[in-house]
Amino acid sequence: MTDVQLAAAQNVVVTIAETGETYRCRTDESLLTGMYRLGKRGIPVGCRGGGCSVCKVQITAGAYAQMRPMSREYVSDDDLAQGRVLACCVRPLEEVTVAVIGKLNKCVTRSGT
Ligand code: FES
Repeated sequence: MTDVQLAAAQNVVVTIAETGETYRCRTDESLLTGMYRLGKRGIPVGCRGGGCSVCKVQITAGAYAQMRPMSREYVSDDDLAQGRVLACCVRPLEEVTVAVIGKLNKCVTRSGT
């Protein structure tokens, strides 16, 4: 990422569809990095590199960009077409809404922190 891109990074709001919770995420950091700041106990610390799929989400609104490759073992063409991606591998370009799916769902949707 260039200095110009870093300087242009903004904070945007990410909404978790299941709970209505929101968190701020920079446009130069992954959705998963921002999600950690929610402070939810049990958010899995996976590989953070697109290779384990514990952070799979479905982006239901808003634009995003891919930051690093995602394993095709976990993200198929159909997944991509439906907005199902790995939160550690994508960054928001604007306000987005995400549905947490897979292993991440239980950690994010249970009550309490
Ligand atoms: S943390 Fe492993 S794929 Fe995202």
